[in-house]
Amino acid sequence: MSIKEKLDPNRIPQHVAVIMDGNGRWAKQRGKDRLEGHHQGAKAARTTVEAAAEIGVKYITLYAFSMENWNRPKDEVAGLMSLLLSSIASQLGDLIKNNIRLKIIGDTSLLPPDVFAQVNQAVQQSQNNTGLTAIIALSYGSRNEIVNAVKNIVADYKSHPQDIEKFTEEDFANYLYTKDIPDPELLVRTSGELRISNFLLWQLSYSELYFTNVLWPDFSKEDFFEAVYNYQQRERRFGKTSQQIANLK
Ligand code: FPP
Repeated sequence: MSIKEKLDPNRIPQHVAVIMDGNGRWAKQRGKDRLEGHHQGAKAARTTVEAAAEIGVKYITLYAFSMENWNRPKDEVAGLMSLLLSSIASQLGDLIKNNIRLKIIGDTSLLPPDVFAQVNQAVQQSQNNTGLTAIIALSYGSRNEIVNAVKNIVADYKSHPQDIEKFTEEDFANYLYTKDIPDPELLVRTSGELRISNFLLWQLSYSELYFTNVLWPDFSKEDFFEAVYNYQQRERRFGKTSQQIANLK
C-alpha cells in the first residue's frame, strides 16, 4: 500500500506551511552553483503544490524568501528574484487551468518593480479560482508582520481607545497578512534544521511540527504524503487532556 493510500481522507490538514530549506547544500554536494539548487527547489515547490491539491489540502504556504534573505549576496538575491519571475510567468497558465488561487504574504513593496508587477498580475488573474490556495511568503518576516499589525491597530483605535478593551485574538489575527486564512495544522521543514526562522510565529501556535532530513530539491510527493501521514498519527490536544479529547469524539 502506498503512503498516499494510507492517508485518512477525513483528517487531511486544511493548511500546510512549508519551510523549503537545503537548496544551497543540495547544490554544494553536487559541486554546483547555489542558484542551481534554487532552480531544482522551484521544481520541488511545483511538485509539492500538486501533491497538496491531489489529497485535498485547501491552503499551502511556501516560505520562498524571508526578510532576512535580502542580506544574502547580491547575485544570489538577483538570481532568486529572476527565478521567481520566470517561475510565476511559466506556471501561471497551469495555475489557472488547475483552479489554483495564488496569494502572496510579505512586504511586497521591497520587491523589484518587475517582480512586484508579475506577482500582482498572477494574484489578480487567479483570484476567482476556488481550488487550492497556494500562498507564497515573499519578503516575509513574522516579527515584521506583527509589528505592522500593532502599528495599524494603534492607528485604527486612536480616535476611540476605550474600544481596545474588547479587542480579541481573532481581531488581532485580522491585522495579519494571513487574514481570512485558517492557521496551519502542520508545518514541514526540510534539511534537518530544527528552527521556525521567523515564519508565521502567531499562526503556528498550535501547529504540529514535522522535520525531515531530505534537502528541499529532493522533496517528493511521497515525502509530502509521509509528512501528512505522520501528522495524522498525532493527537492534537490544544492544552486539554487526552481524556477530554476522547470524550469529544
Ligand atoms: C532555502 O535554501 C531556500 C531559499 C532561501 C529559497 C527558496 C526558493 C525556492 C525553492 C525557489 C522559488 C520558489 C517558488 C515558490 C517559485 P538555502 O539556500 O537556505 O539552503 P542552505 O541552507 O542549504 O544554504
